[in-house]
Amino acid sequence: MFTKKEIKEVVFNPFEYLKTDWALLSAKSKSGKINAMTVGWGGFGVLWGENVITVYVRPERYTKELIDETGEISLSFFGGDKKEELNYLGNASGRDGDKLKKVGLSAGEVDGYPIIEQAKFVITAKVLYSDNLDPNKLIGSAKEFDKKWYPKKNYHIMYIAKITGVYEK
Ligand SMILES: Cc1cc2nc3c(=O)[nH]c(=O)nc-3n(C[C@H](O)[C@H](O)[C@H](O)COP(=O)(O)O)c2cc1C
Repeated sequence: MFTKKEIKEVVFNPFEYLKTDWALLSAKSKSGKINAMTVGWGGFGVLWGENVITVYVRPERYTKELIDETGEISLSFFGGDKKEELNYLGNASGRDGDKLKKVGLSAGEVDGYPIIEQAKFVITAKVLYSDNLDPNKLIGSAKEFDKKWYPKKNYHIMYIAKITGVYEK
């Protein structure tokens, strides 16, 4: 059972939570279907006076299709647990079947937003803005990232989403 928290009450290290522990990015289709994919990149901040998260999603992800349908997303965190499961969910696609079930995880909803039931900490959010990363805008030494990260030219789509709730178990 998740308890909604005031954002001011929540303290965590964003670098550890994303880069080290990873998270599941969940999205919901118009018909209510939920899919999730592992993410290791993203951000937390403030824009247009709103508390926001930013996620970066490559165009071929099934999750992207669902994000574009409703803009209702979440990040579910597991505190360093479930890395094997997250690794699987970061390599298999929801297009090919119920991958969450395969690793013993389940999708649910909190206040209408898609979440992963087994998470320890969840941030729900509504997409406000999206943009395609443009290799022509890489600056200085970052120009190397085009070759390093995009041999297939599948540039990430950046989604900035307003935080609608933070929840803890
Ligand atoms: C540790 C890890 C981090 C990942 N981070 C991202 C990410 O930030 N953005 C992204 O587009 N894909 C990322 N992926 C890849 C997706 O999770 C993967 O392609 C997934 O199978 C997509 O699932 P879907 O087709 O069901 O959406 C990551 C994978 C792993 C294992």
